[in-house]
Amino acid sequence: MMTIDKFNFAGKKAIVRVDFNVPLNEEGKITDDTRIRGALPTLKKVLADGGALIIMSHMGKPKGKVNAKYSLSQIVDAVSAALGVAVKFAPDCAKASEAAAALKPGEVLLLENLRFYPEEEGKPVGIEKEDPAYEEAKKAMKASQKEFAKTLASYADCYVMDAFGTAHRKHASTAVIADYFDADHKMLGYLMEKEVQAVDNVLKDIKRPFTAIMGGSKVSTKIGIIENLMDKVDNLILCGGMAFTFAKAQGGKIGNSLVEDDKLQLALDIIAKAKAKGVNLVLGCDCIAADKFANDANTQVCDDKNIPDGWMGLDAGPKTQEEFKAAIKGAKTILWNGPAGVFEMDNFAAGSKAIAEAIAEATKEGAFSLIGGGDSVACINKFGMADQVSYISTGGGALLEAIEGKILPGIAAIRGDK
Ligand code: 3PG
Repeated sequence: MMTIDKFNFAGKKAIVRVDFNVPLNEEGKITDDTRIRGALPTLKKVLADGGALIIMSHMGKPKGKVNAKYSLSQIVDAVSAALGVAVKFAPDCAKASEAAAALKPGEVLLLENLRFYPEEEGKPVGIEKEDPAYEEAKKAMKASQKEFAKTLASYADCYVMDAFGTAHRKHASTAVIADYFDADHKMLGYLMEKEVQAVDNVLKDIKRPFTAIMGGSKVSTKIGIIENLMDKVDNLILCGGMAFTFAKAQGGKIGNSLVEDDKLQLALDIIAKAKAKGVNLVLGCDCIAADKFANDANTQVCDDKNIPDGWMGLDAGPKTQEEFKAAIKGAKTILWNGPAGVFEMDNFAAGSKAIAEAIAEATKEGAFSLIGGGDSVACINKFGMADQVSYISTGGGALLEAIEGKILPGIAAIRGDK
């Protein structure tokens, strides 16, 4: 398999799939450039070797239609500043042959949002799955997707996949395009290599004890990961809104707290499975309850299985925070996905802060800590502790699927994983 380190881009044009799906504010300014910074090592290597760059990405979900709100023209200046090169812009990603052909070594062309074309995602538009003509439309769309991928491939001599955040999508630019390059002219970028290594550290080369912290509001969205981790971890902390589904399942009174009533049996099954496998499952015992969903709500610390009517649990309580710390202390491998409370509101951030601090402490003592998934990354950034953990993933859904043990199409297209 070709690697980016081995490849010499001198005199070559490289088309690089990045994930520049970055958050923008109302004025179109980037509010978090982590993903742009993450792609820089790959982009700079191409330029340093003496190659020319064609950068492609999606932004948002424009559903196959041109939409100025999602135009990548909004990030040209930021990418130029990050690379130190004036980036050219191709306003139509499928009609950029001339602009690509004119590129000289050291020059950079950014293509407009790939998802302005439905072919990028390859899903038929304007037809429901139930429609008898759907299968035909799907077949036709798959054929146009190949054509679209072939057009993108025609701009360059080699292809680099560096969009970890989108590697779980089997799209034209993340997977199909790889078919148009031979094995010596396609490779993963540095960010992909780092992300894959970080996932391997927590799934394969596990140093024990291994503590995973899964938070967030719904157990239903994390079930695949919890199942996969159950065979690997020593300690499993389940926190955030989903903890109240477990409290209710065990007969607790949870007031107005978040709950998935159709997942109560699932919660009991998880508890039983953890017991059978000898996993130390930490579900907490107390919470900070509030009388409304607001930072200025009245609050009280209460048993998480005895929350008064009309009150809702919005954060982990002090005893629960101690349980979190005990399960993280001394761990050698740590994975954190999902906050322990409504950390966006300062009065309900203490549970997540306790987790972040315990992770930072364990990392200082030599643990490998991987933090990923939008909210926990926002959380660690809010606490200004990003530099105190081992690795922060740029992936949201992609990281979760990787941890579930799924093969990511963007990686398989290069490495041939089955
Ligand atoms: C993300 O933000 O998770 C990635 O850019 C993928 O976006 P998607 O969920 O719209 O495919």
